[in-house]
Amino acid sequence: MIDIRDRVRNSALHAKIVSAEEAAAVIKPGMNIGTSGFTPAGYPKAVPLALAERMKKEPFQINLWTGASVGKELDGALAAVNGIHKRMPYQTNSELRNALNSGGVEYFDVHLSESAQLSRYGHLGGKVDVAIVEACAITEEGHIIPTTSMGNTASFVQSADIVIVEVNVSQPLALEGMHDVYVPLDPPHRQPIPIVKVDDRIGTPYIPCGLDKIKYIVPCDIGDDVRDFAPIDEHSKVMSELIIDFFKNEIKEGRLPKNLLPLQSGVGSVANAVVTGFVNSDFTDLEVYTEVIQDGMLDLADAGKLKFASGTSFSPSPAGLSRLYENIDVYREKMMLRPQEIANSPEIARRIGIIAMNTAIEFDIFGHVNSTHIMGTKMMNGIGGSGDFARNAYLTCFFTTSTAKNGAISSIVPMCSHFDHTEHDTDIFVTEIGLADVRGLSPRERARAIINNCAHPDYRPMLLDYLERAEAATKKAHTPHLLDEALSWHVRFKETGTMKK
Ligand code: COA
Repeated sequence: MIDIRDRVRNSALHAKIVSAEEAAAVIKPGMNIGTSGFTPAGYPKAVPLALAERMKKEPFQINLWTGASVGKELDGALAAVNGIHKRMPYQTNSELRNALNSGGVEYFDVHLSESAQLSRYGHLGGKVDVAIVEACAITEEGHIIPTTSMGNTASFVQSADIVIVEVNVSQPLALEGMHDVYVPLDPPHRQPIPIVKVDDRIGTPYIPCGLDKIKYIVPCDIGDDVRDFAPIDEHSKVMSELIIDFFKNEIKEGRLPKNLLPLQSGVGSVANAVVTGFVNSDFTDLEVYTEVIQDGMLDLADAGKLKFASGTSFSPSPAGLSRLYENIDVYREKMMLRPQEIANSPEIARRIGIIAMNTAIEFDIFGHVNSTHIMGTKMMNGIGGSGDFARNAYLTCFFTTSTAKNGAISSIVPMCSHFDHTEHDTDIFVTEIGLADVRGLSPRERARAIINNCAHPDYRPMLLDYLERAEAATKKAHTPHLLDEALSWHVRFKETGTMKK
C-alpha cells in the first residue's frame, strides 16, 4: 500500500488507513453518496473503482451527488455497472448520458449554486450518508486539505454521517493554501456572504471535519483524468474577436471599466478561444470569478494580464496541469478555489457585476436559451452554473455556432425546444455570423436583431418569414408566435434530417 502517513498529520488517524475495498464495503444499497470533484478534478478514484468492482459481484445502486461532472473512475465506472439510481447535479460522461436518456438513471439537473443547500435540507431524498473526499493531506485536527477542486465537498462533509478520505499522492502538497472554504448558514440564519472583491478571503484553507467523523482513510495515486482541448477552430476565433471588440466599445461608451468586470467563462472550445483572445489583447489587470480555471487562465497569468482568478476547480489540459503543479507558488498568489455555492453565488454575481459568457445548444429569435436538451428531449450535460450566472450577471452573453450538424440544424430557431434561460436573463448573443445586443429591446425588436446579426444566411429568410407571418397572424402581439409551427423546424429535422425546407 502507498505510504501516506506523512500526509496524515495526526498519528492517531494512521489506524484508520485501509484499502479502497475495505472502505467501499461501508457503502450500502440505496445510500446517498456525496463526493468531492468538479469537472475531472479533485474527485475520489480508488474507492469508486473498488465500489464498482463490488457492484459487479453483488449488483446494487446508490444515489450519487458531486460538485459537477467528474472523471471516468467515478461516473464512468459506476454507470458501467448500473450502479447509479439517481445522479445530481451535472455530468458529461457518455456512458452516463446514455443511461439517463434511456431510463437507466434518474437525473436531477439543478443550478450548481443550489445543489449543496438542497442536499442539506434533505430535499434530495434524505441527507448525505457517506462523503468520499479526495485530499492532499489531513491536518493535526482532522481537517481536510482539498486538492484540485472544491465543488460541494465542504457541505457534504458537514452533513455526512461517515467521511471517507482518499489521500492522493499525485496531488502536490503545495496546493495547500489555495482554497477558501466557507459554507453559508441556511435561511433564516444566513448572513451576507462578505465577498466584495474577487480575491477576498472569507473562510478557512481546509474543510472543517474533525478526527471522529473520519471513518476511513484510503491511499490513492491516480491522477485527475484531465484531457486536451480541441484546437481553437475558425468559428470560435471569430466569436472571440466579436466579443472582444464589443467589450472595447463598451469601454469607449463608458459602460465598462478599462479592465472590464470579473469574467466568468464556461467550458469548451468557445470559452477557450475567448480567454485566448484576451491573452493576445491589450487588456490588463483582468479579474476572473468563474467555476473552472483552465489553461487560458494560466496563460493570462503568465502574460501578466491577470489580477486574480477565483474558481471552484482547476481543470486544465495534461500539459496545463503540469504547468500548474510546477509553478504552483506563483499561481497561488493569483488564484483561489471556493465552494461552488460561493463561486456560483447569485448574491456575489450581482454584487461584483460578473460578465457571464456561456455556450448554448440553441437560442430562439426572442432570446430564450436552451443549454441542455438536444431536440428538446435528450439531455446533453446539464445546466451547470450557466443559470446561476445568466440570471445574475451584469452582462449575460451566450455563444453558439449559427448551425450544427454540417448546416442541417439552425441553432437559431423560432422557439427553443427546451428553456434554460429566458429572454429576461439574456443580453448578448454571438455566433460566427455576428453579435446581437438585445439589451433594452422588446421581443419583436430582439427577433430582428438576432435574426439579422446571428442567423446563418441559409436560415435567415426562413426566420424572417416566420416572424412576419407570426406578426400578421397575432396582429403584432407582444411575442408573436405561430403555435402550430413554432417547433416545426425540430419536427422537420427529425423527419427529414434537416431543418431546411
Ligand atoms: N441542435 C441539436 N444538436 C446540437 C445543436 C443544436 N442546435 N447544437 C449543437 N448540437 C450538438 C452537436 O452537434 C454535438 O453533437 P455530437 O455530440 O453528436 O457531436 C453536441 O450537440 C455538442 O455540441 P458542441 O458544439 O460540441 O458543444 P460544446 O462542447 O461547445 O458544448 C454545450 C455546448 C451547450 C453542450 C455545453 O456548453 C454545456 O453543456 N453547457 C451547459 C452548461 C454550461 O453552460 N456550463 C458552463 C459553466 S457555467
